[in-house]
Amino acid sequence: MSEAAGYLRERLFPERPAVAMILGSGLGNLVERVAVDAGAPFAAIPGFPQSAVSGHAGEVVSGRLGGKRVLIVSGRVHYYEGGNAAAMRPVIEAIAGLGIGKLLLTNAAGSVREDMAPGAVMAIEDHIAFSGMNPLIGEVSESRFTGMTAAYDPDLRAGMARAAKSLGEPIASGVYMWFSGPSFETPAEIRMARTLGADAVGMSTVPETILARFFGLRVVAASVITNFAAGMTGSELSHAETKAMAPKGGARLSRIVETMLAEGVFDD
Ligand code: HPA
Repeated sequence: MSEAAGYLRERLFPERPAVAMILGSGLGNLVERVAVDAGAPFAAIPGFPQSAVSGHAGEVVSGRLGGKRVLIVSGRVHYYEGGNAAAMRPVIEAIAGLGIGKLLLTNAAGSVREDMAPGAVMAIEDHIAFSGMNPLIGEVSESRFTGMTAAYDPDLRAGMARAAKSLGEPIASGVYMWFSGPSFETPAEIRMARTLGADAVGMSTVPETILARFFGLRVVAASVITNFAAGMTGSELSHAETKAMAPKGGARLSRIVETMLAEGVFDD
């Protein structure tokens, strides 16, 4: 077990959580639905990444949601902050070290599809690592050749669709394309993304999914659509817009996640 996993088990997780979650930009509102018992900032956890940009990389929270123990990582470190695709490796290694077998990832993303408007929630069915980066570069063990055929677990994804259905919430499904950021895409890049089969574009999640599969975790992920991608409307994109729009779809995603827990999707 990593030192970080030992630290987290001792202080926050004597009871093994049903699932770990890493929450995207503006999507911390899920925490409002959680009965929080304890938390620790990244800075206090051995080996956890520090955010080069904002200074406050994130926090690990222990709480209960939908009647189940959950580990929530609020705030993530992105590739674009320091050029390290493996920045989140210590976090995901610690989650695996705690014996948690399932990881839920959320992000804010731009829609490439005319029929998927801001406010929509999209279950990620597959991804394209267009940044060209891979968090396992430099890893020496044979397991670096990680299979990515069913990276987004079909059963967990079906559980997400069932939860949305029982709430009467529409949920889209599609392919997420990872651009490095931090600049947004150009309209030409978005036309390319559409041609290549992307439904949404964003700057996170993919390296975490690769790391999670490497460590043997099952992954389920969802994007909250905050905007139409570059060139699809007359207006320029901004991070302010992402942050302002995220809570809209984020509130719906939060209810879906709570229902997944209550319906036992993450039970062993
Ligand atoms: N592009 C990349 N990342 C994003 C976007 C986008 O349009 N919206 C939110 N995150």
